[in-house]
Parts: sequence; C-alpha cells; structure tokens
Amino acid sequence: MDPSSKIWLDGEILKYSDAKVPILTHSLQYGSGIFEGIRSYKGENGTTGIFRLDEHIDRFFHTASIYSMKLGYSKEELKKAIVDILKDNNLEDSYIRPFAFYNDDSIGMATKNKKISVFIGAMPFGAYFANKMEGIRCKVSSWNRINSTILPVQAKASGNYINSIIASNEAYNLGYDEAIMISNGYVSEGPGENIFMIKNNELITPAPSDDILLGITRDTIIKFAPSLGYKVIERRISRAELYLADEVFFAGTAAEITPIIEVDNIKIGNGEVGEITKKIAEKYNDIVRGKNSSYLNSITYIN
Ligand SMILES: Cc1ncc(COP(=O)(O)O)c(C=O)c1O
Repeated sequence: MDPSSKIWLDGEILKYSDAKVPILTHSLQYGSGIFEGIRSYKGENGTTGIFRLDEHIDRFFHTASIYSMKLGYSKEELKKAIVDILKDNNLEDSYIRPFAFYNDDSIGMATKNKKISVFIGAMPFGAYFANKMEGIRCKVSSWNRINSTILPVQAKASGNYINSIIASNEAYNLGYDEAIMISNGYVSEGPGENIFMIKNNELITPAPSDDILLGITRDTIIKFAPSLGYKVIERRISRAELYLADEVFFAGTAAEITPIIEVDNIKIGNGEVGEITKKIAEKYNDIVRGKNSSYLNSITYIN
C-alpha cells in the first residue's frame, strides 16, 4: 500500500502512514476484527463502479451483529466513505477493505466496553492468482475447514482466517496454487473462495449448511447461470466427485472466477480450462464492468 494514499479511519480521511493503532490492540492480539473484501472496476466510458456494494455492507453488518459489535456508523455513512476513498485515491480497478476492530490495548478477552474503530482502505488490484487464466492446481487440505460448532462461518471475522492461512500455506509449500477445504467429510470451500463443480452441464456448489461463507460472487453466479442455460444445484460434494467433475472453479471477490485444472494431481476433465467455466467467467466480467445492462443496478458508480 502506498504510504501517501488516503485511508478512512473513524470518520476522518488520513494519509495511510498517519493512520496508527496501539500495537497491543485486542484485534491484533486475538484476531477479533471483522472485515469485507469488495472490488471496484473500471467500466465503459471512464466510469468506475463498485460491485454489489449494498450486499457487502449488509454482510459487514451481519458479521458485526454475530459478534455484537456496534459499529457506530450507518450503512449509508460507510458506503459514502468507500466512495470518498476511491475518489480520493483516483482508483479504478481496486480492492476495498472495510475493517472494524477493538482499538483497545487491555489484555482481557471479553470485548464488553472496548472501543471499536472502523477503517476503510483501498488499493489498486488486479488478478488474485497470477496464473488465473491458465487455471490453477489445488490440493485438498489436511486441515479441515472450521465448522459452525467451532465458529460462525457465515461471519467474515479475522480469526476465521488463521484456518485459511494454515491450509493455504500447506498447499503453497507443497507446490500447489491453493487449498480446497473439507468440512464434516465433504468439500466446503477454498481458504478465501467458494467452489463450484460442473457435471453433465449442471453447476453444483456446496450448500450453506456445508460450512461456507455465503459468497456474493457465488450468489451472482447462482442468479445468472440459468440465463446461460445451466441449472445450479446446492448440495454436498465429496472429494472424489471433484476428481471426476467435468470442470471445477473457484468464485470470490478477489479470485473472481478462477478455473481449477487439477485437484490432488488429478486432472479435471482434460486438464484444461473448461468451456462452461469460460462462459461463466466472461459473463461475470461483463457484469462487474457494467457491460451487461441487465445488471447495472449491482454497481455503485463513483463518477
Ligand atoms: C472463506 C471465504 N469464502 C468465500 C469467499 C467468497 O466470497 P465473496 O464472493 O463474497 O467475495 C470469501 C471471500 O470473501 C472467503 O473469504
């Protein structure tokens, strides 16, 4: 992040290098922050638009409510702050990170009466996986996904991501691009992405009860896939079903649509990026960049 870029912290716009928190902050010690990951895209005629901002802010508030965090700002205030930050930093294709945390340096865990701070940062952003276009190679993690008996998986809380980090590190260290996580014996999701497989022209994705984050990209695909002629089924997927799928891909704000061409060294289909995945990715890219007039109400234009 460019130290001179602008950041929104507790209602003020500051230089990134001037936005400071005490080093003993509760959320740094214990992972008690909550966050969102949002993208803006450069669209037609010099416009820049934020994709599904309302749904991301709704999810931020749902996460806050799960952890009884009173953010102290309305949804409208935070949406305006995001638009302001994008404008102040002249951003086009960007990644936007709203974050709320306990700005408190006491050691006790319980969060009652601890001060909550909120910041919004944003940075230029391209592909999350450098080799996204060629498709990535994944490994089913030896680490299970956290499940709803351990932590609320529907919350986008920092602490959940230590489970993602250990799985991603294992996959990277073994030479794979990303991990796929299992929960209760069935495929759940990636460390920061939802997963879809395609079998006999149907899109199949784990159900909300399979310990997944309810992804906004996943929801976008579920909504538009029928218009391309594909039925979407939300159900449990076994590890071997992934091996035998015609195509597999990840879906997420950061990952966008990332084809998976190998799982555990087993080629998916013919080991190349699948035709249906390509169609889904093309439509998704058109939607997020405002090139599909039916989905323009998903975009908040900043100019
Ligand atoms: C664990 C996890 N699953 C799925 C997703 C995809 O969600 P979305 O499409 O809303 O970015 C993310 C990213 O936010 C994530 O962190």
